[in-house]
Amino acid sequence: MIESFHRTEGDINFSPARQGWYALVRNGETAQYLAEDERHFLHQSMSTPCLDVLESCDGIYLTDKQGRKYMDFHGNNVHQVGYRNPYVIERVKAQMDVLPFSPRRYTNEPAVALASRLAGLMPEDLNRVLFAPGGTSAVGMALKLARIVTGKHKVVSYWDSFHGASLDAISAGGEREFRKGMGPLMPGAERIPPPESYRGIFHGQPESFYADYLEYVIEKEGDIGAFIAETVRNTDVQIPSAAYWQRVRDICTRHGVLLILDEIPIAFGRTGRMFAFEHYGITPDIVCLGKGLGAGVIPMAAMVARDSFNVASDVSLGHYTFEKNPLGSVAALAMLDFIASERLLEKVADDEAFMRSRLFALRDRIPLIGDVRGIGLLWGVELVRFRDTREKAVAEAERVMYACLEAGLSFKVSQGNVLQLSPPLIISRSELERALVILEQALHSI
Ligand SMILES: Cc1ncc(COP(=O)(O)O)c(C=O)c1O
Repeated sequence: MIESFHRTEGDINFSPARQGWYALVRNGETAQYLAEDERHFLHQSMSTPCLDVLESCDGIYLTDKQGRKYMDFHGNNVHQVGYRNPYVIERVKAQMDVLPFSPRRYTNEPAVALASRLAGLMPEDLNRVLFAPGGTSAVGMALKLARIVTGKHKVVSYWDSFHGASLDAISAGGEREFRKGMGPLMPGAERIPPPESYRGIFHGQPESFYADYLEYVIEKEGDIGAFIAETVRNTDVQIPSAAYWQRVRDICTRHGVLLILDEIPIAFGRTGRMFAFEHYGITPDIVCLGKGLGAGVIPMAAMVARDSFNVASDVSLGHYTFEKNPLGSVAALAMLDFIASERLLEKVADDEAFMRSRLFALRDRIPLIGDVRGIGLLWGVELVRFRDTREKAVAEAERVMYACLEAGLSFKVSQGNVLQLSPPLIISRSELERALVILEQALHSI
């Protein structure tokens, strides 16, 4: 089973290394809750069976039932402003006492304020907003809107991309692992290779090759209404150049294809800018946001589109019960206020320089590290058996991950061999130092 499991998004929950981990944590109450979790939840990859049982969270830390503390360098990308951020919690609690829910057909002050705030942060005429309870739903709305605006139903995405787990999102996404066994999906999804360094038959091609490929598919296929992509790929940290994105922007414009940027995991300062596309001097046609939008407290996602796309008033693009969620809106407003008042974007730019110098030095010391890639506080450390062949060091990556967990550092492994490090943006320099010491010790220990 393990051999047939194609490792993509994250580490797997039925490997021998996972069993070794259980020997460490499975006792007392923890054992009881893990067993009950396995009894009551449907088992699925990357979830149940679970790693551990959590008791509380605070700042950059998760604490489990036995009092074990983890620095959380994964956080499902919701933890930009840290867990249980007091400023956020206070605003959400106050909103709880006034208007915790707003039925559809009504609006409310926090929702309007958040829509206006997001529009104000966006360039050009990106000022039309819809909220949704999760990122997958925001992607679904964007795909629908692109069909309506362009009159063309087909969408291009990258192989290996993930844009959510619902049927429409896995149809548009490029990860086989999420589509396998699902039967007929939404038609009209075309895929192109992503401009990435980690592997693939096109490895070694210049980036322009990947942009040419997009244009080729658009011209050959016809009826392409949208190209959906992560600006910077979150999981294994793939960072295209500005030349690539500017060329793609130009191709989309010339062919009447909407550029949908999925920034669900990486917006709100993760890359050192509020939105990752700001690094590239491009304006997308639609942006999808989520995860950290709700500040790690309330599920909240959004689609922001151009003003001229306000042409679907007779269609329900997102008929979600928790659409204009006042709690999610105050959480998001508090998160945005906190980023501004704490000058987190500047801090992340400083942290980027620190991480770059430390991780590059680590790569020079440790042959197992084949590549280090990063931007802001999003870093990928790729482990390889041999640097020249780039053969993935999958077993080693898993052992490093569990050794780090044991020492109190939690992160995810992507594509089987990329350690993905994305700490809360509030992390202090000494905490970052400590995490890197744990990582280095784990790398030496295996
Ligand atoms: C790039 C990207 N898009 C979309 C989603 C889906 O978001 P959600 O889990 O909130 O539905 C995710 C979640 O991991 C993601 O990483």
